[in-house]
Amino acid sequence: MFDPVEKLQEFIRHASVSADPAFGEGMQGAQAFVSEILASIGFEVEVVKTDLHPIILAQRGGNPAWPHVIIYGHYDVQPADPLNLWESPAFEPEIRDGRLYGRGAADNKGPFMTHIAAVGKLLEKDPELPLRITFMIEGEEEMGSPSFPKFLEQYRDRLKEADFVFLSDTGIPNEDQVVITCGLRGLVLFDLEVTTAKGDLHSGLHGGILRNPIQALTEFCASLHTPDGRVNVPGFYDDVLEVAQWERDELKRYGVDEEEYREFLGIPAFHTTAGYSPFEAIRFMPTLEFNGIGGGYQGEGSKTVIPSKAMVKVSCRLVANQAPEKIRELLHQTIRERMPADVRYRIIDGHTGTPYVVVPPDRLNTPTDQSVALADAFRATEAAVTDVFGKPPLYLREGGSVPIIADIKRVLGLDSVMFGLFLPEDNLHAPNESFHLGVMAKGMRVSEQVLAKLARG
Ligand code: BES
Ligand code: MN
Repeated sequence: MFDPVEKLQEFIRHASVSADPAFGEGMQGAQAFVSEILASIGFEVEVVKTDLHPIILAQRGGNPAWPHVIIYGHYDVQPADPLNLWESPAFEPEIRDGRLYGRGAADNKGPFMTHIAAVGKLLEKDPELPLRITFMIEGEEEMGSPSFPKFLEQYRDRLKEADFVFLSDTGIPNEDQVVITCGLRGLVLFDLEVTTAKGDLHSGLHGGILRNPIQALTEFCASLHTPDGRVNVPGFYDDVLEVAQWERDELKRYGVDEEEYREFLGIPAFHTTAGYSPFEAIRFMPTLEFNGIGGGYQGEGSKTVIPSKAMVKVSCRLVANQAPEKIRELLHQTIRERMPADVRYRIIDGHTGTPYVVVPPDRLNTPTDQSVALADAFRATEAAVTDVFGKPPLYLREGGSVPIIADIKRVLGLDSVMFGLFLPEDNLHAPNESFHLGVMAKGMRVSEQVLAKLARG
């Protein structure tokens, strides 16, 4: 068996930034790396071409009567900028204080290498293991997985008879407390561009007779929230479900102090959605955020100009039961209603992601059609986490999004058991991303135990 930490370092050296065409070589290298490592532990590897970055589909078949688990991961990473803030270069992994630093260490190379290593070890010990395993590793997660739904449709017959999907692409509050993630937020993204005059105008020659696009845009942006932190778009909260009592109870055991968290973030005070604590708001409430804004002169000194254009990038996180298409329509309607008649505007729709929720079997109030295999998978994961980490897991919804999890449910009918592995200080998407090697080692043991148990009952 390979050394998982060494392999992870090698993996991180392939700079696989999916969003930036300049990283084609890194994408190709990462894809080949994953394909090889899966082949080396006995998997039959298929590299499925897409319009952009291939999906790796690797199978260990066997008797159709055996249980079948799909393990998901993504080999692409976020851009590493700003590079000057990294203590060691983003794509030259370095171990410091029990952590492996590098872009993608935690999101998602480390966590899914954890599962590959667990499978490798397990099959080495028990080559006859009565378990079918399919790895499904994509290269477009960080750009919204544009190719994935089509891939699922294409391979549906082969994949849909699996029992459940197993993955680690979500977080935990500290290294002793594992979370089994039972919900993900969805997404709606768009850009809004406001234009007034044909071109930039001298603010002395023409000032005072036309609307400034920066003003029109920022006034509109300011209208999108009320002072109590709620989104001011009519109908926005209509489909948000009441938080279940068990979810609130679970959160009480979260073990992170609000004040500590505030300091960790470096904010003077929380500004949460009215009626919710910070930890509740992250998981149970939708948001509307401005991700970037631009317009007019941004250089040195001053410039007396009325710019002709201003733009903003907006994203909404949605929670269970909210439909992205419906929210998008509400947003469009609000723009139409609130934008002054004397400006032109253009909405550039981005991608969407459907929120996902799965209620663990022991927390269901009413019996549902949830499969026995899924219930077994949850129980096996809970038992393994309790054994390895010495503490039972928490079941919590997560604030982040992995949109394909809802697509998998829709197309294949499969639910996901999401075993969280990254910590708040892992700096996902930020400079100095890292992965805690102690958590990785424990994660391997959990994954191994879960798969062994499902195979041997
Ligand atoms: N691993 C994250 C999702 C995540 C982040 C889960 C934080 C839990 C906590 C994933 O790779 C990711 O970054 N997803 C993107 C969505 C994507 C469509 C760009 C996200 O949540 O912004
Ligand atoms: Mn990510």
